[in-house]
Amino acid sequence: MSTPATSATSTPISAAPLAVPPKIRLRSVSKVFSGPQGDLTALQDINLEVNDGEFVCFVGPSGCGKSTLLRIIAGLERGFTGDADVDGHPIEVPGRERTMMFQDHALFPWLDVLGNVLFSLGLKPGLTQKERVEIARSHLQLVGLERFEKASIHELSGGMKQRVALARALAPNPRVLLMDEPFASLDAMTREQLYGDLQRIHSAFQKTILFVTHNVREAVCLADRVLLFSPRPGLIRSEFRVDMPRPREFNDAAAADLSREITAAFKRILAPTDTRP
Ligand SMILES: Nc1ncnc2c1ncn2[C@@H]1O[C@H](COP(=O)(O)OP(=O)(O)O)[C@@H](O)[C@H]1O
Ligand SMILES: [Mg+2]
Repeated sequence: MSTPATSATSTPISAAPLAVPPKIRLRSVSKVFSGPQGDLTALQDINLEVNDGEFVCFVGPSGCGKSTLLRIIAGLERGFTGDADVDGHPIEVPGRERTMMFQDHALFPWLDVLGNVLFSLGLKPGLTQKERVEIARSHLQLVGLERFEKASIHELSGGMKQRVALARALAPNPRVLLMDEPFASLDAMTREQLYGDLQRIHSAFQKTILFVTHNVREAVCLADRVLLFSPRPGLIRSEFRVDMPRPREFNDAAAADLSREITAAFKRILAPTDTRP
């Protein structure tokens, strides 16, 4: 598991030691789905600490439990074993301090752009309608869509829809943003613009971000740490710390070097064990 590199280290799966407790702490988290075909272990013995403001990417093959893990942290998945805490409190139900963003924008087509962002503020108590509109507009500005508040969702490009989804996720001011392959269906150019936006937002607001991707280069461009998952049952097999300065460009030479190294480690994890004598 060790990774000889100056820019990356493979160390136990814990956040760098800080005086404050981790934002998210998972201890021996496992998840088994039971069905007519029998039991399916989706996650096995996940141990992870994430500090407040950290950006952590999960990389792993399809079906290794990445979405299940995000759903556990979101409070959407019941019946797991082990301990999952946010701010030292067990995660049991969804909370406003954790929002999720998906590959499919999941916007409401019957609401315009502003209406979609306002929707996420509907349950936030103690705000007047005027304040809600101000907050929604400021988040549309944050993602560069202030001129599109009256647009219908179907008029927007894929990248703009994901920007609305990002504004909607951020508007309630969550501390933790859970992003499940949010850019996977976008073209390369649009993705690169969104990498810039997300880095800018992360450094401005210091959100804790957990981001699932298949794309190692994307993970290196965005993350403080990249965690590699094994095929099912998902377990965290390796960790790489990314110490490159921000903002990072997708095509940075240093990012390319580190991506190659992580990809090689990933291939070793995916390679079937050779049992020949
Ligand atoms: N609600 C469910 N019921 C039964 N099996 C599920 C359910 N959700 C996920 N799984 C299974 O758990 C495994 C992990 O799924 P998932 O977390 O979606 O993986 P990933 O996001 O890494 O592709 C897969 O084999 C999937 O089929
Ligand atoms: Mg998934």
